[in-house]
Amino acid sequence: MEDESEEGEAPPVTAQIDNPAGNRVIVLIGLMGAGKSTVGRRLAARLGVNFLDTDAEIETAAGMTIPEIFEKHGEPAFRRGENKVIERLLQDMSKGTPPGGVLATGGGAYMDPQTRENIAHYGVSVWLRADVELLLRRVARRNNRPLLKQGDARETMLRLRDERYPVYALADVIVDSVEAPHEEVVDMIIEKLGVYFAHPQGQAQ
Ligand code: S3P
Repeated sequence: MEDESEEGEAPPVTAQIDNPAGNRVIVLIGLMGAGKSTVGRRLAARLGVNFLDTDAEIETAAGMTIPEIFEKHGEPAFRRGENKVIERLLQDMSKGTPPGGVLATGGGAYMDPQTRENIAHYGVSVWLRADVELLLRRVARRNNRPLLKQGDARETMLRLRDERYPVYALADVIVDSVEAPHEEVVDMIIEKLGVYFAHPQGQAQ
């Protein structure tokens, strides 16, 4: 849900390569605007695996948009739904054809300890780390994030960065989401996943 500029656009057809994550689900985490959906879709195309976006799946399951869910049911209800949907998607993807794939999560999902456990069980976590100024420029293009509609967006983003970055840092792999073509970020993810699966005990950062 963070395709600020290219929603609905099909990813370019690119040569497929070996998937270093095998049948584990590659789970992208990070703040709003980090590029989880945009980069995730391209990563999946490159690896020849399925791509899913948790926000989109939550909207389908609920029959309403994320802002509507926040407005009608509140954030705690959204979080409960989010955790359940992610668990189901991880289970389904790890049994899928082919098993594994790429899952882009909403920015708050990884903050839940049970969700972190589920991700560790079925997948490999990849934090797309980005500078707050870059995130703010990206999210300014869309108006679909309820958390950024309350008060000053910069203040909210800085608070979320302070709360979340120490937890995101638990991810297996950390990749800087820089202002570069998405395909370059995809290259970095694949390279770091290769390093991580060669030495899974240590983080590939
Ligand atoms: C949220 C991020 C959003 C969406 C919801 C809450 C968050 O997803 O799940 O608005 O808590 O950071 P994106 O990170 O895909 O924008």
